[in-house]
Amino acid sequence: MDVPPLEHLFLITGTTRGIGRALVASALRQPNSFVVSLSRAAPFIRENHQNIRIDLNDTDRIAGSFNSIPIQLKQASRLTRTVLINNAGVLDPIAPIGDCDDTLLARNIQVNLTAPLILTRHFFHFSKPFPGHKWIVNITSGASRTPYYGWSAYGAAKAGLDMATRAMALEFSRIDPAFGICAVAPGTVDTAMQEKIRGCTPDQFAKVRKFLDLKSSGVLDSPAHAASKLIRLLMRDRFENGGRYDLREMGEQ
Ligand SMILES: NC(=O)c1ccc[n+]([C@@H]2O[C@H](COP(=O)([O-])OP(=O)(O)OC[C@H]3O[C@@H](n4cnc5c(N)ncnc54)[C@H](OP(=O)(O)O)[C@@H]3O)[C@@H](O)[C@H]2O)c1
Repeated sequence: MDVPPLEHLFLITGTTRGIGRALVASALRQPNSFVVSLSRAAPFIRENHQNIRIDLNDTDRIAGSFNSIPIQLKQASRLTRTVLINNAGVLDPIAPIGDCDDTLLARNIQVNLTAPLILTRHFFHFSKPFPGHKWIVNITSGASRTPYYGWSAYGAAKAGLDMATRAMALEFSRIDPAFGICAVAPGTVDTAMQEKIRGCTPDQFAKVRKFLDLKSSGVLDSPAHAASKLIRLLMRDRFENGGRYDLREMGEQ
């Protein structure tokens, strides 16, 4: 396959909708970029965008998906930045623990925590020979720091992701400083995930009223705005290894 001059390579998970889809659109707008989306949608490859089909519950299949990426070392010789954004996420099950489904509990941890760890491991080996900086951005949530009634698995997985980010940052600073990793909370963004929250009963999720109010008062961010801000900050090297950021609190200068 004929790949144009390549400076920025992005791998982004969970790209069928919401923040992930907007991250792909924003990454594709960067000059000389190639975007690999990892999603449950049908595979395709066109110009500077490839979609690899992967269900992140199938953790045994994650390693193999790196073999389908068409970038060779020769084509990557001018890369200045290779980025993995672990964006895919699930909220379910939303309920007090006694009412949660076992399979959904296991899948929540699998998609929100286990998959980002495995993806980071294989991204490390895949991108290590490339020149330039390598960045891993883990999309976290305010729920990693504040307990929410009905979100035990989601909050635990995101808190685990925050700690994994800090531990891997220590490792990278010693093993290969060309790598950096950080966690970014995107704020409250108007996506299907927010719609799901608003559809809960107060018995499932005690703070549902707060999220209904956020929508009706028009304060939710748009996926396009949140995603383009994150990509701009990445391109300006505004993240530090081991950092945890709230996108809403970040100025752009
Ligand atoms: N929206 C917010 O206010 C908010 C706030 C804090 C943090 N976040 C975080 O931001 C990230 C994106 O959330 P969003 O609001 O854009 O959510 P969303 O609209 O629900 O999108 C979630 C994405 O994750 C994908 N995904 C879920 N399970 C998957 C699996 N097993 N394999 C592959 N892909 C899977 C979905 O793909 P399918 O179409 O295949 O299901 C979808 O593309 C998540 O990590 C979320 O926790 C969001």
